[in-house]
Amino acid sequence: MIKIDIAQRLKDLPPYLFVEIDRIKKKLKSQGKDLIDLGIGDPDLPTPQEIIEVLKEKIKDQVNHQYPLDLGLDIFREEISKWFLSRFNVQLDPKNEIIPLIGSKEGIAHFPLSVINPGDLVLIPEPLYPPYRSGAIFAGAQIEYLPLKEENGFIPDLESLNRDILKKTKLLYLNYPNNPTAAMIKKEDLKRFVDLAREFGFIILYDAAYSELTYNSPGACSILEIEGASDVAIEFHSLSKTYDMTGWRVGWACGNEYLIESLRKVKSNIDSGVFNPIQYAAIEALKIYDTHIVELRDIYRERRDIFIQTLSESGWDIKVPEATFYIWAKTPNNMSSSDFVKLLLERCFIVATPGSGFGPSGEGYVRFSLVNDKNRLKEAAERIVKAL
Ligand SMILES: Cc1ncc(COP(=O)(O)O)c(C=O)c1O
Repeated sequence: MIKIDIAQRLKDLPPYLFVEIDRIKKKLKSQGKDLIDLGIGDPDLPTPQEIIEVLKEKIKDQVNHQYPLDLGLDIFREEISKWFLSRFNVQLDPKNEIIPLIGSKEGIAHFPLSVINPGDLVLIPEPLYPPYRSGAIFAGAQIEYLPLKEENGFIPDLESLNRDILKKTKLLYLNYPNNPTAAMIKKEDLKRFVDLAREFGFIILYDAAYSELTYNSPGACSILEIEGASDVAIEFHSLSKTYDMTGWRVGWACGNEYLIESLRKVKSNIDSGVFNPIQYAAIEALKIYDTHIVELRDIYRERRDIFIQTLSESGWDIKVPEATFYIWAKTPNNMSSSDFVKLLLERCFIVATPGSGFGPSGEGYVRFSLVNDKNRLKEAAERIVKAL
């Protein structure tokens, strides 16, 4: 056997932090313990039946069995454009300002390949969604991390950065509503970022995967609502969380046409687009948005309130999130993230994610995903209250 040396870019990725937690989880499972998994952000709810029916119908047609087009179906891009106009009052040209993705993770991870040269500086807020870092590393970027602090509403403080850094910056990542902190951003803050990007000539990758999972009005905005944003920004949307379609792998990128075109170029060399029946199903998803989203928000609102109210019986003060299906809480008694997550596993049989797994600024926090029904969430919270 020859010795295989893996690529430096893989060695450059940080080690997987959840090894110990996975080990305990497996052990408890093999002992038959009744684990409640609030670890990953993968909804337990089924994809709406209307969407499934369209897939069933379209899969029967042989025309749909061939390679899809790079740019996706015209009617999918047109439907996205229609939805975008009614949702954000932003007009997107379906021909060159939208591209379907095989899930938004795919586009987010590939995007740096289209704009980053080795050594280019990128700014990544942390705690972070890990593909920001891996996509940047794969493109050879130099990364400057921006800590997200609770006292700043988990918004990065770009103004305090040295202007030389801003001058060198090629790409800034932003994600609101945010995973894992559940923070939202106001339009005036987004405008500050857009103004800085235009002043210093950098690109903004805006991740809007949770834009529809909000609890109060007005909901989350699109960065493309900000004047001048289409000069500098590309925004990523996902059907995964909005329609309980994580396994389907469909989303889109939209915004600046040169950025869309360069992402298309990368993708056309790597993948062959989204399976046509899935694009048709995604069109149906956008059509049922108005009724579906009200029901979905009601479900998560009820889960959120039951979980937090029950936990608060222990005296644990948890901020009620305005968006996402995550609860991002300071660990009780100043415990470290990983000690607290181990305690939850071993004493309560509950899986949660340690904040430190998302970056150093997540230390001292824990993330719960509301991906179990309300009764299980109440039970989970009761187990925690007993253990605290
Ligand atoms: C912040 C954020 N962005 C993007 C995604 C990717 O979603 P998908 O690839 O399923 O569209 C996720 C998934 O967890 C996420 O949390």
